[in-house]
Amino acid sequence: MKLKQQLKTPTSSQLNSHSNLIIVLPKEQIKSKWPVFPHSNTIMERLNRAGKKCTASPFSTDLPNKIGTHATIVCIKKDISSFELLTLCRKAAGEQLKQNPREIALYMPGMEAEPAIRTAEAMLATLLAACYEMPSYKSKKSKPLKLNSLVIYNLPEEQDFDQTFAEAEGNNLARYLTALPPNDLTPALYRKRITTLAKEYGWKMDFLDMKALRKKKAGAFVAVAQGSPVDDAGIVHLRYKPRSKSKLKKLALVGKGICFDTGGMNLKPAQYMHGMHEDMEGSAVALGTLIALTELEVNFEIDCWLALAQNHIGPKAYKQNDVVTACNGTSIEIIHTDAEGRMVLADTLAIATKDKPDLLMDYATLTGSCVGALGTIYSGAFTNKNEFINDIIDAGRDSGERVWPFPLDEDYDKDLESTIADIKQCTLTSGPDHIHAARFLQRFVNKTPWVHVDLSAGNNKGGLAHIATDTTAFGVRFSLDFILNKKQWE
Ligand code: BES
Ligand code: ZN
Ligand code: ZN
Repeated sequence: MKLKQQLKTPTSSQLNSHSNLIIVLPKEQIKSKWPVFPHSNTIMERLNRAGKKCTASPFSTDLPNKIGTHATIVCIKKDISSFELLTLCRKAAGEQLKQNPREIALYMPGMEAEPAIRTAEAMLATLLAACYEMPSYKSKKSKPLKLNSLVIYNLPEEQDFDQTFAEAEGNNLARYLTALPPNDLTPALYRKRITTLAKEYGWKMDFLDMKALRKKKAGAFVAVAQGSPVDDAGIVHLRYKPRSKSKLKKLALVGKGICFDTGGMNLKPAQYMHGMHEDMEGSAVALGTLIALTELEVNFEIDCWLALAQNHIGPKAYKQNDVVTACNGTSIEIIHTDAEGRMVLADTLAIATKDKPDLLMDYATLTGSCVGALGTIYSGAFTNKNEFINDIIDAGRDSGERVWPFPLDEDYDKDLESTIADIKQCTLTSGPDHIHAARFLQRFVNKTPWVHVDLSAGNNKGGLAHIATDTTAFGVRFSLDFILNKKQWE
């Protein structure tokens, strides 16, 4: 999709030439004086007649000009949160996209510079997500969207939206991969796709297969993966190196890539198993974040580690009371085979921290209890660096991908004490499992500065913020904001 930035206020003939138009008005101003712009009186009258305020939901009307411009009107307050702004953009874009236009124009009469730039960015992010085609296996294909350009009027100056384009590219790919059915995204097929991406983006790629992982004594990963009928699990390692040699810091990204989670021996009931092809979303978000940072040609090194496996039933599957040892020597008593995410991540984190990254971020659809605590409109965050907490909250707030931190105090470990091993994998009683899981993972990162994102917002019915699909690939925007704009870790 092309972006055309028109810095001037449009003439009325320019405006009337657009078949599809989104008008964003400043709420504070329209209260005192309705701004004057082409068709402003008609719009005001129609809005009043319909009894609409256009703040919570957009108002659409066809303008009385030659081509009957389909206009959608939105009012925003100056300090609108990023989440609300993105949500309004999704709704407004939805109204327009029903007509499947080739071009949409965005006009913001009377808007101050800062909210105008934020609105333009949010609308661009929304449309880049909306135009991306998600996997479909329907024999009758739905018509693809034709939208190929967005015209933005009256921005104060030419804007660089590179980060928005890069984030959309990462998010789109992550959503696509996450939505693929599990028979088309087995660990082997997933790795094949990653190989293609590695060539495209110029990453070095290595793969630790089951043999290599056994050799490394990665018993926690192997315990989960050994239940699969095929031997295709393993850890993908991708490396991004900046063009210019830099002495800057090193980032590590880690993702849970369970291509299907049956629950294992402790089999999930159908209602809970349905959707578990999305249990690889953490790895897709790590990959999407790597894509976005690569596109932006960031000047620090990135190592990305993806734990690809399935959690299966079968004669070789691990079971309750098994004791396994991870590659850092920690022995783990198995309590519930459905807590497989923390098992594969344990070894992956231990391996990722060997390279001494300056910041390690991991993503995982790890616990149902995080969904219980936050619902599916926020994701949970955990860190072993208390000084990161404000930046984490702010990055969530600024990006519109909202996260909230949970405590990670040592005394939560009491619940994970085992009589036979160093640690229990989880508990059998319902408690703060998202915190237990994070405490469990914390043992494998030691002192490495670490942010763990439990992706409770990975799937939200009806979409979330600017994303219109249930699968959100939540985390790419949050991560870029945290990594690039909040400089604590550097
Ligand atoms: N992948 C699930 C958690 C999950 C489910 C995340 C649905 C998001 C949406 C994870 O592997 C799991 O099954 N966890 C168990 C842990 C329990 C057995 C300690 C859970 O949450 O029930
Ligand atoms: Zn599970
Ligand atoms: Zn899982």
